[in-house]
Amino acid sequence: MAWRLDPVRRLRGQVRVPGDKSISHRMAMLSAIAEGETVIEGYSESADCVATLSCLRQLGVRIQAIPGGVRVGGAGKQGLRHSPTTLDAANSGTTIRLLAGILAGQPFETQITGDASLRRRPMRRIIEPLRRMGATISAVDDNLAPLVIRGGPLRGITQAASVASAQVKSCLLLAGLFAEGETTVIEAIPTRDHTERLLGAFGVPVVVTETTRTVSGGYRLQSPGRLRAPGDFSSAAFLLAAGLMVEPSALTIEGVGLNPTRTGMLTALQQSGTEIVVANARLEGGEPVGDLWVDATMARPTRPLRLEGALTANAIDEIPILAVLGARFAGLSVADAGELRVKESDRLALMVHNLRAMGVEVEEHPDGLTIPGGQRFRGAAIETAGDHRIAMAFAVAALTAEGPTTIDDAACVRVSFPDFFTVLERLQR
Ligand code: S3P
Repeated sequence: MAWRLDPVRRLRGQVRVPGDKSISHRMAMLSAIAEGETVIEGYSESADCVATLSCLRQLGVRIQAIPGGVRVGGAGKQGLRHSPTTLDAANSGTTIRLLAGILAGQPFETQITGDASLRRRPMRRIIEPLRRMGATISAVDDNLAPLVIRGGPLRGITQAASVASAQVKSCLLLAGLFAEGETTVIEAIPTRDHTERLLGAFGVPVVVTETTRTVSGGYRLQSPGRLRAPGDFSSAAFLLAAGLMVEPSALTIEGVGLNPTRTGMLTALQQSGTEIVVANARLEGGEPVGDLWVDATMARPTRPLRLEGALTANAIDEIPILAVLGARFAGLSVADAGELRVKESDRLALMVHNLRAMGVEVEEHPDGLTIPGGQRFRGAAIETAGDHRIAMAFAVAALTAEGPTTIDDAACVRVSFPDFFTVLERLQR
């Protein structure tokens, strides 16, 4: 379904974004292998998180939708059942990579696959360490889904992360729950730590040093009873950017997760001279949460946005929208972002293609981008390749473009933010 967007005159209002996608996946998976029932409030209604629930159901987990969330009947660590049919992770890298860690510890064989985009994404990064732990895994070209995972008795390993990836780290920590001895992941660059925080809530200690995360097998997970997923910072990012681009604007985005391993976009914006107010900062269920305010009287970026190393890893999902902000304001340079080529699409190539279609000058590097600032967007036909974050980033660019823009596949936003276009329309009134 193509979607037309016209430039807007203003944005204002209060809004809540969907529950955090990364945290929702982890809450569902840990609840499934815990003892006792868990109610997850604010569980993300994104297609990715729905895919996780349907995979878990196929493995025999009882899951019920309830108003505002889901109820998961914990099967316990030994309670998952063989699925005679292939699990479908749809578009979700987190579903397939994290579940693979759990499946590696099961005494049965499971097939898991996904849509065409997911079947192009690299899995060797989890296959090799899981094999070292004792699982038997086959894959297309030894790298791509469908994966066939035969679990078995696992032994703990120490593994240095080959890429900065919370999905790989979490996969190995989850497998480590089923392994004999200790499993340690060494991370040169820190990645989102939701798995580590949540394991604590389920009674499993994680030993954390500056560069290592260690779990021991043998613990039983105990349901904490009730969990609440905060609003997804990675969804809020698009509205925040819209508030910075459109003048006048006055937006409050309520109840957003502000885990410091996720808020690199705020750091980059602050370093560029942007003012964003965080109000009502609090801790909810072990995760920092707050409200974000942006209004037209606040300072916009006056220096280029610069992302490299740890900051790139921290803001990895926000780079498409940061590119839009960089072009409009004081420029952007991104390095160390080769991982963007193996996300839901080759995001570097697709950003460049669409920025140029909108009349924006941009230089592409193998692992990054350079964009001069102070540019204007021209309405254009945007190609998303079904990538939700490309669709939303260019929808925000369209709000201040000259002339109308069409997004070729607006429905792809259901992957993370199903109501995105409705919310955007409401804020224009
Ligand atoms: C995620 C980790 C990141 C991120 C993805 C969600 C997670 O991927 O891009 O959207 O939930 O762990 P990588 O860890 O592969 O970089």
